[in-house]
Amino acid sequence: MKIADALHKVWLNYICKDDALSKNAVVKSLGDVGIDTYTPNSCPNKGPGLLFFDEFDQSICDFLRESSHCGLEKVLAITTPAATLAEGDVWRILKAGVSDVMVWNDSDKSAKEVLARLERWRYIDDLLRSPLVRNNLIGQSPAWLSALAQMVGVTSFNDASILLIGETGTGKELLAKLLHTMGTRPDKGDLVVLDCTTIVPELSGSEFFGHERGAFTGAVASRDGAFAMANGGSLFLDEVGDLPLELQAQLLRVIQERTYKRVGGNTWYNTDFRLICATNKDLSAEVKNGGFRSDLFYRIAGETCRVPPLRERTEDIIQLATHFIKQLRPEEKPLEMNWFVKKFLLSRKYPGNVRELQQLVSRMMYRHVGTGPITIGDIPEDERNDSMLDIASREWIDKSFDRSIRRAISHGVGLKDIGRAAENAAFRIALREENDNSERAARKLGITKRAVQERKAGRLKSWNA
Ligand SMILES: Nc1ncnc2c1ncn2[C@@H]1O[C@H](COP(=O)(O)OP(=O)(O)OP(=O)(O)O)[C@@H](O)[C@H]1O
Ligand SMILES: [Mg+2]
Repeated sequence: MKIADALHKVWLNYICKDDALSKNAVVKSLGDVGIDTYTPNSCPNKGPGLLFFDEFDQSICDFLRESSHCGLEKVLAITTPAATLAEGDVWRILKAGVSDVMVWNDSDKSAKEVLARLERWRYIDDLLRSPLVRNNLIGQSPAWLSALAQMVGVTSFNDASILLIGETGTGKELLAKLLHTMGTRPDKGDLVVLDCTTIVPELSGSEFFGHERGAFTGAVASRDGAFAMANGGSLFLDEVGDLPLELQAQLLRVIQERTYKRVGGNTWYNTDFRLICATNKDLSAEVKNGGFRSDLFYRIAGETCRVPPLRERTEDIIQLATHFIKQLRPEEKPLEMNWFVKKFLLSRKYPGNVRELQQLVSRMMYRHVGTGPITIGDIPEDERNDSMLDIASREWIDKSFDRSIRRAISHGVGLKDIGRAAENAAFRIALREENDNSERAARKLGITKRAVQERKAGRLKSWNA
C-alpha cells in the first residue's frame, strides 16, 4: 500500500503538569518523524490534532468532544507514563469522539506510533475525498461519513467479509459496488451479484456451485456458478437474511474454506473472493430465534457496517436531491430548487430512504417545465396535504433529543449546563457546516457575527488557559 510521504500538519494542545516530559521534547520527536505541529488558533479546532494531558477531568472530555466534532475530526489523546487513567475514563474519552488513546512511553517509538495513525487516517481521508466516492456516494452528514470511513478502512486494509445492514433504499447495493471497485486486489475480477430472495431452491445448487453436464435433467452442458465467477473478485449476496436454512448449511464450507464441488461433480475447486452481504433484517435477532445459522453469521460478518437511514442524515437530503436532478439531466445546466421545495423535501418522511427521495425527485422533474427553479407546482398532487401547511414549523425535537436530555438529567446535570451544552453543540455544528466562517455561522444561528467571534475567542482562551 502506498503511504503518503507528505509532511503531516496537526494541531497540538499540551496540558501536562508533570515536568518529566516537556512540550518542546514532544514537538521535536514528532518533527523528527515528519509531523509538524502548531498551536490551534480557533476553537473548535479544525483538522487532525493531538491532546497531551496527564490529569483527567470532565474538561478533557469537553475539549475532545469539541475538537473532534464528536468524532468527525481525527484526534489522538496522549497521556504521559505517569498519568493514571481509570478504565472508565478511557471509555469516556473514546466516547467523546477521539480516534485513539495512547501513552507516550518512549519518544522515538511513540512518535512513530503517532505517525502510523496519521498515515492511516490520511489514506482513508484521501479515499473519501476521491472523485470515485464523492461523485457516487453522496452525503456529508456525520452519520454517513462515519459509515463510509469504516467501510473504506475495511476494504483498504483487509480482505474481511463485510455485512452491510440497513433499511431498504439506504444504498447497500451502491456501497457494495463501491467496496468492490475500491478493493486493492491486483488484477481484480468481477463483482458477482446474487439476490437471495430470487433463488429457486431446486436450482440454487447450480446457481451457487455450477454443475457438470448431465447433473440433472436439462443440464446439457457444464456451467460455472457464482462462486467460480467471483474468483479473483467479489461476491455480493444481497438480502442474505432471506437465504433458506438448508441453503445456509450448504454455503458454510465454501465461505469458510473457499473450496466447492459443482453439482454432479467430484472435483474440488478453489475460489478466492471478497464476500459482501447485505440485509435489511436484524440478523443477530434472526440468529437468536433460529432463523439464521450462527456459524454462517460469524463467517459473513467479518466486519459489520450499519448503513444509516435517511432520517439520521437529513442534512444530506438537498445534496442527494441535487445529485438526482443532475443524473436526470446530465447534459444540461442543473436545475435549482426553490426555498419551499427544499423545505418540503426536508420535512417529509422517507420510509423508503434514498430510493424514495430519488423517486420523488423524478416525479417532480416529470412535472417541471422550463429552465427556472423547481417550484411548488412540481410537487406531485398526492404529496399535497394539510401537513404541508405547517412545514415551516415542523417539530425538530425528536426522540434522540429527548434521550440526550433524559441521560443528562439522570447524570445529575442541571438545567444551566444542559442549556450550555445545547448552545455549544449549535455553535460547533454551525461553524463546522460553514467551514469556520463566522459570518455565515452567525446568519445560520440568527445572531450577530460579533457574538460568534467573541464566542470563538472566549473558548480558545479557556482551552489554552
Ligand atoms: N449516498 C447515495 N448517493 C447517491 N445515490 C444513492 C445513495 N444511496 C442510495 N442511492 C440510490 O438510491 C437507490 C437505492 O439504493 P440501493 O439499491 O443501493 O439501496 P439498498 O439499500 O440496496 O435497498 P434495498 O434494501 O431495497 O435493496 C439507488 O438508485 C442508489 O443509486
Ligand atoms: Mg439492495
